[in-house]
Amino acid sequence: MGGQQWTPILLSLFMPGILEQIEPLKEAALAEFGAASDLSALEQVRVSYLGSNGKFTAVMKQLGSLPKEEKPAAGKAINTAKSELEAALAERRAELELQAALPKEPTDFTLPGRRRVLGKLHPLTQVTEDIVRSFRKIGFVVADGPEVEDEYHCFDALNTPADHPARDTQDTFYIQPPGAAAEGRAGGLLLRTHTSSVQIRVMKQQPPPVRIIVPGRVYRRDNADATHNPTFHQVEGLYVDRNVTVGDLKGTVEFVFKELMGPETRIRFRPHYFSYTEPSFEIDFSSALTRKMGKEWLEIAGCGMVHPQVFENVGYDPELWTGWAFGFGIERIAMIRYGINDIRLFYENDVRFLRQF
Ligand code: DAH
Repeated sequence: MGGQQWTPILLSLFMPGILEQIEPLKEAALAEFGAASDLSALEQVRVSYLGSNGKFTAVMKQLGSLPKEEKPAAGKAINTAKSELEAALAERRAELELQAALPKEPTDFTLPGRRRVLGKLHPLTQVTEDIVRSFRKIGFVVADGPEVEDEYHCFDALNTPADHPARDTQDTFYIQPPGAAAEGRAGGLLLRTHTSSVQIRVMKQQPPPVRIIVPGRVYRRDNADATHNPTFHQVEGLYVDRNVTVGDLKGTVEFVFKELMGPETRIRFRPHYFSYTEPSFEIDFSSALTRKMGKEWLEIAGCGMVHPQVFENVGYDPELWTGWAFGFGIERIAMIRYGINDIRLFYENDVRFLRQF
């Protein structure tokens, strides 16, 4: 018991007093902090002084064994030194962190900046925009209509009778509005099978003259294969004025296709049948592109002079007004233009495909 009481006095006899130890230890620690060349070296220095077995910690531990009257002064000195060390440590750590974050190689500030990879328009959008641009040059405006359409606008008003094959539920996506089945009423709604429905909507909304094109998505119950997809895109055109002729139609189609497919493009009209035009034609075209596909002529669009019954249906006087309409598939144009042999590539969104346009 007696020996333990004497130990502090013995220690203070043989070791320098705490106050004398603090200053040199602090100076040594500060010097080592400054000399630490990276964060892990600094951490080692910190542990060797301030860790639980560190040199500075050891001095702090001596505090408990000091005579009561020396404790306040020694405690104050230790705390001051400790906060000084901690501040120096934090400062050095910040310096070394900054150093670690700086580039290892010298920076060449004259190099061009890093560019973000820019996305591009989908090839179908590009072709659609080209088509729209050509028609705008000759005074057409873009019109739009709903993709969920009713049978009236899609068929009846276009002089397409109820027994027409296009109206078969096997060909077309019909939609049952909520409650319709319960009330025993047929829905009469469907995903539009063509953009021709927009002809009716526009004519019902405005008096002639009309000069519109309608790019848009259409739907059919086709199984997807290399040339079919249940969703695809069309452009509709409609021109109504006085004394419009097949010659105007042919001239317009020729102008646009030459712009789209190259100046040596030729077109020809073949008689056909559509219920909303009379006479009706299919349009074939011929160019370097068709010859590349091994054909002189490729069928590309349907068209004709607007049927008088359609004018009656929208309230235009067929004795006063004449007009023409056409419709064609955008995918087909894009496929011919870019030599794409499978329509499904347009919808897969594989960047290896899309990057090429
Ligand atoms: N609606 C037709 C189709 O989807 C294309 C068409 C043919 C549109 C003749 C017309 C037209 O406006 O006059 O195949």
